This record gives sequence, C-alpha cells and structure tokens, in this order.
Amino acid sequence: MAGIRKAAAIGGGVIGAGWVARLLLNGIDVSIFDPDPEAERKVSEVMKNSRRAYKTMVRGGLPKEGKLTFAKSIEQAVAGADFIQESVPERLDLKHKVLAEIDKHAAVDAIVGSSTSGILPSDMQTAMKHPERLVVGHPYNPVYLLPLVEIVGGKQTSPEAVEKSRELYTSIGMKPVVIRKEIEAFVGDRLLEAVWRESLWLIKDDITTVEELDDIIRYSFGIRWAQMGMFQVYRVAGGEAGMRHFIAQFGPCLSWPWTKLMDVPELDEELVDKIANQSDEQAHGLSIRELERIRDDNLVAIMEALSKQNKGKGWGAGALHNDYTKRLSKLAQKPAVSKAAAKAKTSKPKKKKG
Ligand SMILES: NC(=O)c1ccc[n+]([C@@H]2O[C@H](COP(=O)([O-])OP(=O)(O)OC[C@H]3O[C@@H](n4cnc5c(N)ncnc54)[C@H](O)[C@@H]3O)[C@@H](O)[C@H]2O)c1
Repeated sequence: MAGIRKAAAIGGGVIGAGWVARLLLNGIDVSIFDPDPEAERKVSEVMKNSRRAYKTMVRGGLPKEGKLTFAKSIEQAVAGADFIQESVPERLDLKHKVLAEIDKHAAVDAIVGSSTSGILPSDMQTAMKHPERLVVGHPYNPVYLLPLVEIVGGKQTSPEAVEKSRELYTSIGMKPVVIRKEIEAFVGDRLLEAVWRESLWLIKDDITTVEELDDIIRYSFGIRWAQMGMFQVYRVAGGEAGMRHFIAQFGPCLSWPWTKLMDVPELDEELVDKIANQSDEQAHGLSIRELERIRDDNLVAIMEALSKQNKGKGWGAGALHNDYTKRLSKLAQKPAVSKAAAKAKTSKPKKKKG
C-alpha cells in the first residue's frame, strides 16, 4: 500500500489543522500555508488536543511525530510534497485561485485532495493544468479522530488518482468511501443538511429548544447510528420480516406532513439570536476548546467500546480502530533509521549470485 512521504496542508483552520494533526501523529512531515497571522497559535491548540486524544487512544506508544513547517507561500508549502490537502474557505473563486497555485508548483504526480463540503470537483479542476490528480477528500471534524473520508472524482480526475488517494487516506488510518457519481454535497452532507434544516424549523416554530433537540438525538438514534448506520438499524426495526416490513409500515408516512424538508427557513436575526442564545445556555460556560476535549474523550470511548465487540475483532468503526491503533504502536516500535545508516545501506554493493 502506498504511503505519504511528505504532505502539504493549504489552509489551517478547523479542518486544515485537523489534517495536520492526523498526518503529524502518523509520523509524516507537513508543510503548511495559511495567511492568517494567528494560524500558528490555532494549529498548536488543535495539536495539543489531538496529542492528548492519541495518548489515551494508542496505549502501545505513538510513532515519532512528523515535523511541522510553516511556509510563507503555497509554492514553498508544496515543494517536495507527494500529498497536498486543500482546506481553504468554501468559496469557488478562492478554491480556483488556490488550486491553480498548488497546480503550478506541485510535483505532477502529487495527489491533490480538497476538503470541500459540497463543491463539485469538476467545477474546481477547471483552474488546473493537471486536473487529473484532483480528488475531493471530504473529512469529518475532528479529522484526527473520525475516520471517514468521502472521495469524489470530477470529470477530469483519473481513475488512478482515485485509487492512489484511496491508498493514501487508508495509510493514515482513514475509511475512504468512493462516491459513485459526482453530486453536490456528496452523501454525508446531504444527510446532515436534511436533519439540520428540519431542526431549524423545529426551533423556529418553538417545538423544541437547541438542548432538547440534541438530547433527542444523543439519547436515542445518535447512539444507534454510531454502531449500525440507518439501513441496518431499520432492518432490525422491521422485526422478523426485516426491511420489507419496515418499508410497508413506515413507507406511507413519507407522503404525510411529517417534515418541512423542502422549505428553507429564513436565517433572519431573530432565528440566529434564538439559536445562538440557546446554544450559549446549553454550553454552561464551557469554552470551545473544553468542549473539544469532552467530544474527543467521548469519541475515543465510543470507538474503544466498538473495538471490543464481535469477539474482540471490533464492529464498524471499532474494527478499524483496532487496526489503526495497532499499526501506530507498531510504527512506534520501529527503530528510527539515521540518514547516514540509510545511505550506507543503499550504497552497499550487491553480492553477485553464483
Ligand atoms: N468545519 C467543518 O466541519 C468542515 C467539515 C468538512 C469539510 N469542511 C470544509 O473544509 C474547508 C475549510 O473549512 P474550515 O471549517 O476549516 O474553515 P476555517 O474558516 O476554519 O479555515 C479556513 C482557513 O483557510 C485559511 N485561508 C484563507 N485563505 C487562504 C489561502 N489563500 N491560502 C491558504 N489558506 C487560506 C484561513 O486563514 C483559515 O485559517 C471548507 O471547504 C469546508 O467546507 C469543513
């Protein structure tokens, strides 16, 4: 399986810093470019949290952390990188500008992944001279803990780039799912937007509060989803007759007025204030960084619980968790080969056969 030798991160916000953390904690050197003067501080905060999470998660020790370099330009950041992940704000004009710059300076065979949440890769790669190596690699926050990455190729993406990106993301402990047809917002964000849109209506119409709505998720189907997803959960919910009975029973509800899914609630000042104030109340004074640490501890605990299922082989994300943590511990035990030793090894004359 191909691995990443040197990576570049373009954009070091919430998602970019998460990529940096995952790569560094896998022992890979990363060069990052972000024009925000606060970027270094923000990335180091995320690094602190990610190190903390990995120390709890990987008990057999961690590989030697990769080296992080802050570059002064995209050109400097991508020099020598065989994997580049773009995580700049979600605007097509900015993605075009940044991807054109990456394309101009990166090695022709480097894979370029975009973290976009929903822009079509075909629309982004028009700015590139080597568009065949662009894929969407859509991650989930926190990137250093959640394994899923949706891979989407555009019209000009080569099948080889899709395959190589699948190998590269797998090599850093992720679960790549290649989306079969290019579509805006891919799969995960389509599902999330449906739930988010319905939730905004429920709060706007005073049916529930932010906190009550979160309780409705986290005390019920949120736990169910984490272990079986939706379709397998519904198969079981259909009783002995399984999925067919489930569809027969709940199918007709789809045409009843159960959702307001296609209507867009106006995010006017009143609704934004209402949600933001209720969210402040729900947080009970905890800072975002504190909430991140609580979230990380919970995510690790859930993955660890799933890793013990199925006679210790693990179930779903738990099975991947077993493989990933074992692989990181194995990497930690590998003795570091010094540059001089590596050179001596490669320059040693081969013995002739016979
Ligand atoms: N936040 C999420 O939950 C989430 C999840 C998955 C994917 N995404 C996607 O990831 C991407 C980044 O989102 P985010 O949430 O990290 O945003 P963010 O605002 O936290 O970070 C964006 C970063 O890009 C930097 N930036 C701006 N212009 C730049 C340039 N020209 N070159 C390099 N860096 C530049 C900014 O300074 C900032 O640090 C978006 O495409 C978004 O849709 C976000």
